Amino acid sequence: MITTSLARSLIHRTTSFHLHQHSSFSHSYSLRCYSRKMSTETESIVARLKRSGLFQTKGLIGGKWTDAYDGRTIEVNNPANGDVVASVACMGEKETKDAISSAYDAFSHWSKLTTTDRSNRLRNWYNLLIEHKEELGQLITLEQGKPLKEAIGEVTYGASFIEFYAEEGKRVYGDIIPSTLSDRRLFVLKQPVGVVAAITPWNFPLAMITRKVGPALACGCTVIIKPSELTPLTALAASELALQSGIPPGVLNVVMGDATKIGTSLLESPQVRKITFTGSTAVGKKLMVGAAETVKKVSLELGGNAPCVVFDDADLEVALKGTLATKFRNTGQTCVCANRILVQEGIYEKFTQALTNAVQNLKVGDGFSDGVVQGPLINEAAVQKVDSFVQDAVSKGAKVLLGGKRHSLGFTFYEPTVIGDIKNEMLIARQEVFGPVAPVIRFKTEEEAIQIANDTNAGLAAYIFTNSIKRSWRVSEALEYGIVGVNEGLVSTEVAPFGGFKQSGLGREGSKYGLDEYLEIKYVCMGNMG
Ligand code: SIN
Repeated sequence: MITTSLARSLIHRTTSFHLHQHSSFSHSYSLRCYSRKMSTETESIVARLKRSGLFQTKGLIGGKWTDAYDGRTIEVNNPANGDVVASVACMGEKETKDAISSAYDAFSHWSKLTTTDRSNRLRNWYNLLIEHKEELGQLITLEQGKPLKEAIGEVTYGASFIEFYAEEGKRVYGDIIPSTLSDRRLFVLKQPVGVVAAITPWNFPLAMITRKVGPALACGCTVIIKPSELTPLTALAASELALQSGIPPGVLNVVMGDATKIGTSLLESPQVRKITFTGSTAVGKKLMVGAAETVKKVSLELGGNAPCVVFDDADLEVALKGTLATKFRNTGQTCVCANRILVQEGIYEKFTQALTNAVQNLKVGDGFSDGVVQGPLINEAAVQKVDSFVQDAVSKGAKVLLGGKRHSLGFTFYEPTVIGDIKNEMLIARQEVFGPVAPVIRFKTEEEAIQIANDTNAGLAAYIFTNSIKRSWRVSEALEYGIVGVNEGLVSTEVAPFGGFKQSGLGREGSKYGLDEYLEIKYVCMGNMG
């Protein structure tokens, strides 16, 4: 049995959250601290989205949009202004069990379709996602807060996994093994694992779903998605498009609401053969324990603590651009965001000054406003966490060079921040800050940089900036990370494997390797063939 604290933390990627009753809905509750009725501006965006048919608020079970059986709902808020943008079904154990049954029943048909047939439907889904990228982008900005341009970028990125696996699913090859005995023939078949539970976070409401669902469906698995309760609207809209694309009822199901009950039901069911999760390391560990009872396959994409190492032989313009991109993407709320910026002493002052100047120009605001590149943080708990990390660093001798406090816009906005004189022992360098804060650490030698970079339990992404080809190889090989960006701050793509070393997770997503996570290997021995 998973614990209440585990399931609750499924709702939030890294920090605790505040749950409180909202008086206007007797059966609904809000997951953010700020919550108010819709402004006219939000109302017109929501009205437009409703006309598009993509504004779904019910769960999806067996191809049917379904209310919570007890009628409960949960509020979804816009983090930029606290507006309640929707009340969605708040589901629990019964709905999850029905979703599992639907996925289980649908598996027998879906897994037997030809790969071409599954591929065509995935391709249709990809086309629909791209056709509706503006509306999907608006939904992402509305419930997650990221700037609209970045949100539309997420749709393109998210859709790319569906396109890639529509093709890659055709290349699930088996093997013929030369036998040691002349009258035997040995084969290896690859078969879909079965029903998959995909538990996804709020920071990429679309891409973290498609990165799991794309390969799962391509292999012939069926899926139950549990999106974050903070951002279910994008998941529901994408699922509506999946239905329109010819993916049969029951193949893709969505349940959201009571994370304790949903999580427990998914883990306890022997029919669910695989759990795939993106979120915090703490929750990932508990899911592994929970999955042990029924020995499910597990893929985990967990927290990072990415070092971004700028050597004094780097092209400073390239290093600055790359550092800004990796640090401030999604307002610092990605697991591959630079969490520690290591700068060699010869260029420390110059680089830190250039970074501070550039960060000063990042426009903060509502993601729907022109020119905004830094949106709000997801909720009040996230702001409090970021601020407490900054205060802790300052109390231990770090220097705030820019920002370091809540933004005057209020709500969950935080000033883009640069802090110098950080030591690797400080809290901000030990854990993911998950916000727009760039902590800078000074180092002397390459050996010291590698030692500091690897001195963490995490091992997801790392970045290095250098003009030396020898150093690029040397340091890339020495870093204990699943992903290394060399002179590049944006490394995510559907064609390359994404995943971590150490406590950053298990398995890989994206690329040809991402398919393996949804396949069983079967060895067939044919005897007496002589
Ligand atoms: C994540 O933050 O979990 C994923 C980021 C990415 O796909 O680049």
